Amino acid sequence: MDDNFIFVNDVGPRDGLQNQTIDVSPETRVKLIEKLLDAGVPGVEVASFVSPKAVPRMAGAGDIVSELKDSPAALSALVPNLKGYEMARVSGAKIISVVPSATETMNRKNINMGYEDILALSCDLMRRAKDDGIKGQAYVSVAFECPFEGQVSQDRVMEMTETLLEAGAQEIIIADTIGAANPAQVKSLFDRLTASFDKEILATHFHDTRAMGLANAYAAIECGIRKFDASIGGLGGCPFAPGAAGNLATEDLVSMAHQMGFETGIDEKALLETSHFAGEIIGQQIGGRMAGWMTYQMSK
Ligand code: COA
Ligand code: ZN
Repeated sequence: MDDNFIFVNDVGPRDGLQNQTIDVSPETRVKLIEKLLDAGVPGVEVASFVSPKAVPRMAGAGDIVSELKDSPAALSALVPNLKGYEMARVSGAKIISVVPSATETMNRKNINMGYEDILALSCDLMRRAKDDGIKGQAYVSVAFECPFEGQVSQDRVMEMTETLLEAGAQEIIIADTIGAANPAQVKSLFDRLTASFDKEILATHFHDTRAMGLANAYAAIECGIRKFDASIGGLGGCPFAPGAAGNLATEDLVSMAHQMGFETGIDEKALLETSHFAGEIIGQQIGGRMAGWMTYQMSK
């Protein structure tokens, strides 16, 4: 991996839209994904194959994945269980993500399974993906703090990372699902992770609940991490994790990366337009903290 390239994976069409009050049709979600890809975003989480009873906004995942299956971009889909995995495989998904959480209670609230069971299931799905020629990647959700059980131990994150990699996961995404981490914690955890695992298979997923998203991303960059989830316009939040606000905004991450001299392959103007489009489809004014400044720069 080029050390000067920051890979941005936009999770707006999934994490961003799963929690909205407005239902966005699969066709409009495909339009949003295409705009992200046209702006040069190299990775997008396009859908989640979850129960429509649990998360009604994510209905139509199969339509989205099959519509986009010939795209050369890194398009991923979230799968919570074997049923979701099979649906994703049949639709032509090339990358699937599992989402085990680090604590017992969060797993029960999110997937209705305990920690040991979800870890075993996630490992099984990673093995299946490998056999089926699908890239399997695994989140470690609530890797810093759980809204129900509080602080999460680094040992637990290390144990999950090791177990999932052994099962065949090709990437581990350390997720601050509720946006509770600070940069010192991020540095401490990633120092430990990168001492044991290849930094190229590690990625992050930050929420901006306490305005730490960008600072946490910087801490991870300093630890050698180059792959980041972010969400267009800062949309996001988990319906099962109380108190979680939106994700780190893609436009903030991209702007910081460019100002620091990193390449992302992303066109800021097209990204800003995509952020406006995302706001229009949910009927709200959204945008990262850089949006005003970026708009001003582009108007000059
Ligand atoms: N996709 C679609 N439907 C699914 C499904 C999937 N991956 N897994 C189960 N279902 C359906 C079952 O067929 C069953 O349908 P029915 O009531 O019509 O018979 C129903 O959901 C319940 O199935 P069950 O296996 O008992 O699941 P559950 O009620 O224990 O719920 C999950 C487990 C994983 C399906 C559910 O908790 C879920 O979808 N969670 C997603 C959480 C999420 O997206 N969080 C945010 C991202 S981290
Ligand atoms: Zn998230």
